[in-house]
Amino acid sequence: MLNHLLSEYQLGNTTLKNRVVMAPLTRSRAEGNVPNSLMTTYYANRATAGLIITEGTSPSFNGLGYPRIPGNFSTEQAEGWKKVTEAVHEDGGKIFLQLMHCGRVSHPDNLPAGGRVLAPSPVEMTETQMYVDGKGMLDIPVAQEMSIDDITFAVKEYATSAKLAIDAGFDGIELHAANGYLLEQFIHPKTNLRTDQFGGSVENRLRFIRNVTEATVAAIGADRVGMRISPYGYFNEMGEFDSVDETFTTLAEMMNEIGIAYLHLVDHEAMGAPAVPQSIKTQLRETFKRTIILSGGYTAQDADSDIGAGKGDLVAFGRPFIANPDLVERFREQAELNIPDQDTFYTPGPEGYITYPTLAETV
Ligand SMILES: Cc1cc2nc3c(=O)[nH]c(=O)nc-3n(C[C@H](O)[C@H](O)[C@H](O)COP(=O)(O)O)c2cc1C
Repeated sequence: MLNHLLSEYQLGNTTLKNRVVMAPLTRSRAEGNVPNSLMTTYYANRATAGLIITEGTSPSFNGLGYPRIPGNFSTEQAEGWKKVTEAVHEDGGKIFLQLMHCGRVSHPDNLPAGGRVLAPSPVEMTETQMYVDGKGMLDIPVAQEMSIDDITFAVKEYATSAKLAIDAGFDGIELHAANGYLLEQFIHPKTNLRTDQFGGSVENRLRFIRNVTEATVAAIGADRVGMRISPYGYFNEMGEFDSVDETFTTLAEMMNEIGIAYLHLVDHEAMGAPAVPQSIKTQLRETFKRTIILSGGYTAQDADSDIGAGKGDLVAFGRPFIANPDLVERFREQAELNIPDQDTFYTPGPEGYITYPTLAETV
């Protein structure tokens, strides 16, 4: 049973004890944007995953769109993360830091003094509001268009943050180029209306992500860099566009050339989004020569069978990991899973964060 899913895997220079990945999950417990002991406990409790990918973490003071999400651009933040990586490693796990610059999906009230809401172009978000502590849901003001200096600075921020991450003990980083955040805002023609070398053609729309990836790889090495993408994703007002297949296939070719360790594919159909065509997943699998991580609505059985069929090498589980710290053990035992409580996904404090029982605690 689950022979594929529970088998070892070599991801770049990181050996994973199984192919169960904990998907990146924003949990909004980082008061002051600094990782804390609650987070250390939460991640350490999930160290039986083959690989943990952390919640979206901002590489920049401009990139913290949501309340209480962690950053990784200051010494204090990196020191907080160091305690997390040490605890996960002590328990035999591996952990990548997801670098998420929110770009336009942000409210200025969630940024530190001097922080700016930035985007490739000033395109209004019309259907999305943002939560601000003490104020509730607020409309999102239109982001400022990034100057060439802003772009150059942001590229450096990613590379610096990646270096800080390795110094803090992470096994690698994942560039969050999915779900409508900054990197995808450059890729997508709806949010990128630029007429300079960063907008227009496929090549131009991919220039920012190329520069970010190359700078990050130069800082920490290609084996330690992965990337998450969401072609046909609708989250944060994105959606389909004319050249979507060509754009993402060209991106996969580019990432082959740069040599990053993995591509991680998002599919949010299980969360109510329109289906992602199997054709683009197949095309990306064929184009990208290194590791593919699949995700979205997976059960252990489906994951095992998709790995067996060669559709991907690893499978990431999101909501199941929220509610089941010992998810791998439960898979192995074919045990029932705890049900995640949506009301505590983003609330501060331990409730619904480190309070889900393990199998042993249930028995
Ligand atoms: C509470 C919550 C927070 C999430 N935060 C992130 C995030 O920070 N970065 C990211 O790439 N995806 C994020 N996602 C998406 C998940 O990684 C995953 O793609 C999604 O939950 C679908 O997988 P599942 O069906 O196994 O839950 C989040 C999902 C949930 C439910």
